[in-house]
Amino acid sequence: MSANIVIGTQWGDEGKGKIIDILASRAEVVVRSQGGNNAGHTVVSNGKTYKLHLIPSGILYPNTLCLIGAGVVLDPKDFIGELNSLHSKGISTDNLKIDPRAHVVMPWHITLDGLSEEFRGNMDIGTTKRGIGPTYMDKYERCGIRVYDLVNPKLLKEKALATGKLKNKIITEVYGGEAFDLDKVIEEYIEYGKVLAPYVDDVSVLTYDANKEGKTIMFEGAQATLLDIDFGTYPYVTSSHPLSAGVCVGTGVGPKMITNIIGVAKAYTTRVGKGPFPTELDDEIGNTIREKGGEFGTTTGRPRRTGWFDAVIVRHSVRVNGLDGLAINKLDTLSGLGNLKVCVGYKKSDGSVIKNFPPTLEGLEDCKPVYETLEGFNEDISSCKNFEELPVACQNYIRRLEELCECKVCMVGVGPDRTQIIER
Ligand code: IMP
Repeated sequence: MSANIVIGTQWGDEGKGKIIDILASRAEVVVRSQGGNNAGHTVVSNGKTYKLHLIPSGILYPNTLCLIGAGVVLDPKDFIGELNSLHSKGISTDNLKIDPRAHVVMPWHITLDGLSEEFRGNMDIGTTKRGIGPTYMDKYERCGIRVYDLVNPKLLKEKALATGKLKNKIITEVYGGEAFDLDKVIEEYIEYGKVLAPYVDDVSVLTYDANKEGKTIMFEGAQATLLDIDFGTYPYVTSSHPLSAGVCVGTGVGPKMITNIIGVAKAYTTRVGKGPFPTELDDEIGNTIREKGGEFGTTTGRPRRTGWFDAVIVRHSVRVNGLDGLAINKLDTLSGLGNLKVCVGYKKSDGSVIKNFPPTLEGLEDCKPVYETLEGFNEDISSCKNFEELPVACQNYIRRLEELCECKVCMVGVGPDRTQIIER
C-alpha cells in the first residue's frame, strides 16, 4: 500500500509525464487533482503517441482506476475529444471517474481569458488561453457550473442562464466582444453532459476506499510549484495549487494518506509564458538547450525559455512540498555544453546573498543569480542503466544538486523513453 504524489518543482514541463507514466504502471489508482487542459503531456506506448491534457495517464493501463478530482477544472469539449481519441486507438475509458464537484470550463471562460490577456497589453500573464483563470474565478466567487450541474439539464439551464447573462454583459460592455447565444450554448453543453454522465462518481470516496483496501495510489500533479497561486511567481502563475498539499484538497483526502512525495525537475530550467526567470539564458547555450531538449510547449507549441539549473527554486519546492525525493530529468541534454553552471543563491543590490526564494516579485527583481561552475561532460549517457555507469562529472553534478537542494535524487532521466531512467 502506498500513496505517491508526483509534483513539478520548477515552472512546469519538467517531464513529469515520464515519471508519472513509470509510476502509473505500478499504481492501481491514478488521481489528478488540480488544473485543467492547460496541462499536457505526451506518452509514447507501444509505438503509439498519446497526447493527454485532462485524462490521467494511467488510462493506458487497462486495470488502473483513473480519477479526476474536485479541484480540476474540466473543459467538456476537450475532454470528449480526448475520450474519442483514446477510443479510436482501442483504449477503454471504463475505469475513468470524474468528481461531480469539479468545475466546468464554459465557452465564456475561454473568451474572457483571451480578452483579459489582450486588455492587459504588455502586462499580460501569457496564459494558455484555455479559460483556466476565469473558471477558478467563478469557483471562488461561488457562481461556477460544476460537473453535477452539467449532467443535470435543468440545473445546467438555470445556472448557465444566470451566469451567462452576466458574462455576456462583461464581454460586450467591458471588452466590446460578441455575446454568446445562451440557448445554443446550453443545448451544446447538455449533449456534453450526456457523454460525461456515466463517468461521474465521488472521487474522494473512491480514493479513500482504494487506500483502505491497500491499493497503490498515484497522484499526478499538473503545472508546478513556481506556478502555484500563492507560492509561485505571482501574478505570473496559474490559478490552482500545484503543490503536494493541493493534491489533498483537490481530491478530498487527508494528508496522512500520503506516503511519498516526489518532485520532478529538469537538469536545467525552462519556463513558458511571462514572468521572472533568474537563470534565463538569452544566448547560444540557451538556444542549444532548447533545440537539443525539444523545448516547445505540448499544449500551445510555444518555444520554452531556457536557463541553468536554479537550486534556489528547487530548494523552495523541497520545502513547500515536503519532498521525499527528486527526479532529475533530461540530464542527457547537457552533454557537450561545456562547463555547467548551477545557481546557488541570489545576490541583492546591497551585496548580500540570499538562499531562500523571495516571496514577492519586487524582491526577486533585486536579485542576480550567483553561480557555481561544475565540470561538464561530452559522453552519450542515453544508454546508462545505473548511477555508477554515468561519467564521474555527471555523478558529481547530481550529487551537488542533492546537497544544494537538500533532497535525495531518487531518479535520473537520461533520454525520452520510459526505459531511459536510472532509479537509485
Ligand atoms: P494558465 O494556467 O493558462 O492560466 O496560464 C498561467 C501561466 O501558467 C502561464 O505562464 C502558462 O504558460 C503557465 N502554465 C499553465 N499550465 C502549464 C503547464 O502545464 N506547463 C507549463 N506552464 C504552464
